[in-house]
Amino acid sequence: MNLSKNLAITVALSTVNAHPQSYDTHDNCNNEFFKSILPSIASILGTYHVPANGSFGQAADIAYPINATNLPALCAAIVNVTSSATSSFAFGIFLPDSWNQRFIAVGNGGFSGGINWLSMGSVVLYGVATVSTSTGHNSTGQDMTWALNNPEAKGDWG
Ligand SMILES: *[C@@H]1O[C@H](CO)[C@@H](O)[C@H](O)[C@H]1NC(C)=O
Ligand SMILES: *[C@@H]1O[C@H](CO)[C@@H](O)[C@H](O)[C@H]1NC(C)=O
Ligand SMILES: *[C@@H]1O[C@H](CO)[C@@H](O)[C@H](O)[C@H]1NC(C)=O
Ligand SMILES: *[C@@H]1O[C@H](CO)[C@@H](O)[C@H](O)[C@H]1NC(C)=O
Repeated sequence: MNLSKNLAITVALSTVNAHPQSYDTHDNCNNEFFKSILPSIASILGTYHVPANGSFGQAADIAYPINATNLPALCAAIVNVTSSATSSFAFGIFLPDSWNQRFIAVGNGGFSGGINWLSMGSVVLYGVATVSTSTGHNSTGQDMTWALNNPEAKGDWG
């Protein structure tokens, strides 16, 4: 089953069909698969199959260093997107093995720059696919120095 293409189509059609379906995300949870579906401005930074009750996060993150825990079985992926000659942003995605065909994007607090794995972890428990973007910078919620003389980074944050 081509989960990511199905996800995109589902989001595009805004379907409200919410019958849970099972996917073996092992099949496509690899960098080669994501490379095959991403546009040229995006590159895959990593793919990870997380077992049921597993945890996932990026301990080095400034804004979101705490792992999401007690996760359902899922595929986690991190993608880097070039947004201009001088800017880029990353996003993380959780694709649960048992997916209810719904999608939730979670936000960041204040000016926090980083993938919000914790909030993704709290919503993926309901069976939704979920995404969070770094918003194009790497900082705490109070640090705005990244924005100075950097209109492209402000655009990514917006
Ligand atoms: C889930 O993982 C936590 C932390 O590793 C562990 O304490 C708990 O026993 C696990 N629960 C189940 C149902 O496996
Ligand atoms: C957090 O998750 C990462 C994988 O994303 C794992 O390598 C690391 O051991 C986890 N840390 C804790 C404290 O569970
Ligand atoms: C954010 O900055 C911290 C501190 O410099 C670094 O450890 C971390 O790897 C950076 N995160 C990303 C996603 O670049
Ligand atoms: C993301 O892409 C930009 C170029 O658009 C690059 O400068 C940056 O190093 C990439 N980040 C990572 C973590 O690979």
